[in-house]
Amino acid sequence: MGELTANFSAAVFVFCFYLAIVSAQKLDTFSREYGPFNETHYAIFEVETPATISNKALQVTPDSASAGFNMTYNSGRILYKQPFKLWEGDISSSRENPVASFNTSFLINVYRPKNETPGEGLAFLIAADLNLPPNSYGEFLGLTNATTDGNDSNHLVAVEFDTFKQDFDPDDNHVGIDINGVRSLRTESLTPFNITIAPKGPKFYNVWVDYDGVEKFLAVYIAEQAEQTGPTPPKPSSSIISANLNLRDHLNQYSYFGFSASTGNFTQLNCVLRWNLTIHYFPDQNHTWLKITLGVGVPILVLLIMGAVGFGYYFRKRRMAHCNSNLAGALKSLPGTPREFKFMDLKRATNSFDEKNKLGQGGYGVVYKGFLAKENLEIAVKWFSRESIKGQDDFLAELTIINRLRHKHLVKLLGWCHKNRKLLLVYEYMPNGSLDKHLFSEPNIEPLGWSLRYKIVSGVASALHYLHNEYEQRVVHRDLKASNIMLDSNFDSRLGDFGLARALDNGKTSYAEAEGVLGTMGYIAPECFHTGTATQQSDVFAFGAVLLELVCGLRPGTRIAGFQLLVDWVWFLHRDGRLLDAVDQRLYDEFVAEEAERLLLLGLACSHPTASERPKTQAIIQIISGTVPVPNVPPFKPAFVWPAAGHTDLDSSSVKTTSITTSTSHSSSGWSPQDLSRENYTGNTDSLV
Ligand SMILES: *[C@@H]1O[C@H](CO)[C@@H](O)[C@H](O)[C@H]1NC(C)=O
Ligand SMILES: *[C@@H]1O[C@H](CO)[C@@H](O)[C@H](O)[C@H]1NC(C)=O
Ligand SMILES: *[C@@H]1O[C@H](CO)[C@@H](O)[C@H](O)[C@H]1NC(C)=O
Ligand SMILES: *[C@@H]1O[C@H](CO)[C@@H](O)[C@H](O)[C@H]1NC(C)=O
Ligand SMILES: *[C@@H]1O[C@H](CO)[C@@H](O)[C@H](O)[C@H]1NC(C)=O
Ligand SMILES: *[C@@H]1O[C@H](CO)[C@@H](O)[C@H](O)[C@H]1NC(C)=O
Ligand SMILES: *[C@@H]1O[C@H](CO)[C@@H](O)[C@H](O)[C@H]1NC(C)=O
Ligand SMILES: *[C@@H]1O[C@H](CO)[C@@H](O)[C@H](O)[C@H]1NC(C)=O
Repeated sequence: MGELTANFSAAVFVFCFYLAIVSAQKLDTFSREYGPFNETHYAIFEVETPATISNKALQVTPDSASAGFNMTYNSGRILYKQPFKLWEGDISSSRENPVASFNTSFLINVYRPKNETPGEGLAFLIAADLNLPPNSYGEFLGLTNATTDGNDSNHLVAVEFDTFKQDFDPDDNHVGIDINGVRSLRTESLTPFNITIAPKGPKFYNVWVDYDGVEKFLAVYIAEQAEQTGPTPPKPSSSIISANLNLRDHLNQYSYFGFSASTGNFTQLNCVLRWNLTIHYFPDQNHTWLKITLGVGVPILVLLIMGAVGFGYYFRKRRMAHCNSNLAGALKSLPGTPREFKFMDLKRATNSFDEKNKLGQGGYGVVYKGFLAKENLEIAVKWFSRESIKGQDDFLAELTIINRLRHKHLVKLLGWCHKNRKLLLVYEYMPNGSLDKHLFSEPNIEPLGWSLRYKIVSGVASALHYLHNEYEQRVVHRDLKASNIMLDSNFDSRLGDFGLARALDNGKTSYAEAEGVLGTMGYIAPECFHTGTATQQSDVFAFGAVLLELVCGLRPGTRIAGFQLLVDWVWFLHRDGRLLDAVDQRLYDEFVAEEAERLLLLGLACSHPTASERPKTQAIIQIISGTVPVPNVPPFKPAFVWPAAGHTDLDSSSVKTTSITTSTSHSSSGWSPQDLSRENYTGNTDSLV
């Protein structure tokens, strides 16, 4: 009995200690360097019209080169899209607790056109939301407006660089620390420092804004940089302006970082050319459970935990014994096995598979965004739906194939998790989401630029070529479409979702599925409706659909000008000699006509109703790179004939017969995809599902 009590108090102690550790939260670090800027940054920043990203800079108010903008009476904001958690706990918790810290530095160029009087100012801003207040031009610097200025509910802190004297300003060349309004908490004229924010002629200033969340101290440093692309000058030893400031008193717990600016009767260009941002912020974790457990009582909980651990261990042992022998065993011996994740870790990473973290949903399951705090790693977790009868097969098919594919334009598999009949795959997180989101976002969002579209297409083509040819075991993707093309942080395309892919057996170009053609309408080649079989040629057809979609900015199934399908309309324009009319209207004239024509013709060639007439991936890559001319596309879309005249066997001559059995790299594990093919596997699935 005495021993039990000792154990018990030890357990209580351990538990309390654990609580203490958990509540003394570790901060996460966000650290990025941005600039020179280009259109890819539209995906990273919220650019509030009329702000733009152009000429390698964040133009917080539009520059004179942007047609259609009147330079006067503008305001704009450009903010990093994600908010950061600045402190832990709620309003009632102590003001003494540390808040988030940040260091930021940015290179600015505030330019007065034609050496006229400049106006009005640029500000570094921490804001409660991404919205630009209406009528925030002129003295309001894009921060507030006549109604809201000075109101505590703005939850706003800013460092302003003001170039126009209002009656409440010291002069027309000062820096100020603003809280909830444009009447600064503190200002400092820059003239004594020999700094003119908007001088005659271009000048570049590097600004540092440092905030220490323990000391609760903000300081601003400024140094001139000789050239726009030159080296960053050293940070001056003394600050120009500083203040004791507890961000918690003013800001929202979750706040956004960025810039705002305005012009008035007088104008200036408000350009940010480089931006470094480092934030030590609080990780996003819901801690209400902590309070609940404390309220219920630590001892009861400890007992429960002790009990649960015992039972859990017992059941786990049983289950492991049952399961490991088949699926998990097979997975563990995968060559070059990606790592196994603990379900708890994935649950924590996705905030218990919170709806808010949902990235998308497909026929095979739901994809969540996650964050592995320990490794500071963002991930995408695909949870296979249990309802899906073939869940296990799908899981294995995907794992089998993806695990062995390595290509810079394929989404990388990081690992897997199989527990309690739950199947999950963990992928690299693609910060820019899928292509369709960028093509078909709201009308007011800047469309993808031309060079980016071209780059995306080239990436997809090279990934497809790899799948079809370069990988030892030929693979058809089977479900190529815009929503399966992911974009990484550089907007390089990565093919994802091999859930439908099947490794081809030697000597066959296709894999017949009992359940018929999966995939998505508009991307499916006509012959597939007859054969129920996906082939390399049907992948090429889908690639053609993606090509047209990307160039035209319209979905393959779009009904347009009386045509049922996008491809029919494009073919009509081709016949009419007006092919370029098909190019996405939102690009205006900002595309390369020769490239657009090339891609459109290639798209049509890939959409040929006869499978064998479609180009191969090798040719596709050469055409995109411009080394080979585009094949002749007939003025009328050829009719679809079934069975296709001459050859229905889909060009089996092109198949290289590399034998898998000769590849020794996997034989040592005694496991290869054939061993785990559906036929061999059905016997085991009962014990798994
Ligand atoms: C745009 O900027 C990003 C990040 O600085 C860079 O990686 C990319 O190559 C640039 N893209 C273009 C088209 O210039
Ligand atoms: C810009 O707007 C102002 C006032 O709204 C107007 O006086 C001025 O003529 C406009 N300038 C141009 C170039 O349209
Ligand atoms: C900011 O810089 C100071 C001094 O270089 C450093 O001690 C501090 O850790 C930095 N803070 C952040 C958030 O990077
Ligand atoms: C951003 O950080 C990098 C690396 O520390 C540095 O080279 C660069 O000068 C910094 N840029 C600015 C604008 O401070
Ligand atoms: C100021 O902005 C608020 C919303 O942020 C808006 O409701 C109000 O009408 C604006 N005031 C003026 C004068 O435009
Ligand atoms: C501040 O804003 C809130 C909410 O927008 C409003 O209810 C309040 O009256 C405003 N206070 C002042 C002093 O204008
Ligand atoms: C500003 O420039 C003047 C003249 O070039 C010089 O005498 C003065 O020392 C400078 N002041 C500072 C703070 O650098
Ligand atoms: C606006 O600026 C012009 C000169 O550019 C000046 O003549 C005019 O008085 C200014 N108007 C106001 C309202 O300040």
